[in-house]
Amino acid sequence: MKESVSNDQVIREHYKIEADKHKDSALCTMEDPITRQKEVNLIQNFFRLPAVQEKCKDVLEIGCGNGYTLGHLGQAFPGYTFMGLDFSEDLLKIARSRNLSEISVEQGDVRKLRFDNESFDVIYTERCIINLLNWEEQQQALNEMHRILRKGGYILFIESFTEGYNNLNKARNELGLDSIPMPHHNLYFEKELFEPFVSRQFDIVEPAELGAASPNEIARNFLSSHYFTARVLHPLLTKGDPFMKNTEFVKFFSFLPPSGCYAAIEAYILKKK
Ligand SMILES: C[S@@+](CC[C@H](N)C(=O)[O-])C[C@H]1O[C@@H](n2cnc3c(N)ncnc32)[C@H](O)[C@@H]1O
Repeated sequence: MKESVSNDQVIREHYKIEADKHKDSALCTMEDPITRQKEVNLIQNFFRLPAVQEKCKDVLEIGCGNGYTLGHLGQAFPGYTFMGLDFSEDLLKIARSRNLSEISVEQGDVRKLRFDNESFDVIYTERCIINLLNWEEQQQALNEMHRILRKGGYILFIESFTEGYNNLNKARNELGLDSIPMPHHNLYFEKELFEPFVSRQFDIVEPAELGAASPNEIARNFLSSHYFTARVLHPLLTKGDPFMKNTEFVKFFSFLPPSGCYAAIEAYILKKK
């Protein structure tokens, strides 16, 4: 297990640089605008699901960063009460400056949350829990999220997993491209550990069970086609930079239905048993 205090320092420093560089922009913590757009669309589609709309009111974003996603949701879904929590004071300062009416944001740590048991109907995360750099702390975070969630409540867990990451690099290597390294401030989840662990306390739910009309609007592998296009096909054809060339070519293929498992980032829906 890596040492946690120095890990915290790595995370603080990383997000301070993000805050200074990107301020309140959509690119803060995600320099790929198509990925950002697809994440926000998926989160909005989740909040439109009939089963979520009927039963849920109190929502917490853990790792709300500069408040970009919260800002979108607050406007689009006045029926929910949103709240944000983040570890980084540098990003929270920007979130506060948005004057998100009726949405409170506060400093906190997902490993030890101040909230009472069963305080929220929905918790969502967007590439947050992968900032905990060992599996023990990732489990601690999942336990804390379970504790503060009401029975029958949902977690929308948009995090990175090794399966898509390894498949992407396999595809790149097969075509003579180098592997893309895992970011130094992240530890991706192993599904072999993650799924049995969460299944003790949650049901892993498919969007159709919650009334989704189309499987693609909130598919677990929602970024797969985009990652394959932007990080395999495009650099192969252009011999260019492996990252984020969101050209017309990329835009065309990336918005086809998601296929395969070629993106590290995936969206799990967990329902508290
Ligand atoms: C990829 S960013 C999420 C960005 C955000 N969803 C947005 O809309 O821009 C991940 C966030 O997780 C936060 N984070 C990292 N470790 C955390 C922890 N232990 N507890 C709470 N938040 C944490 C980071 O500070 C960062 O803002």
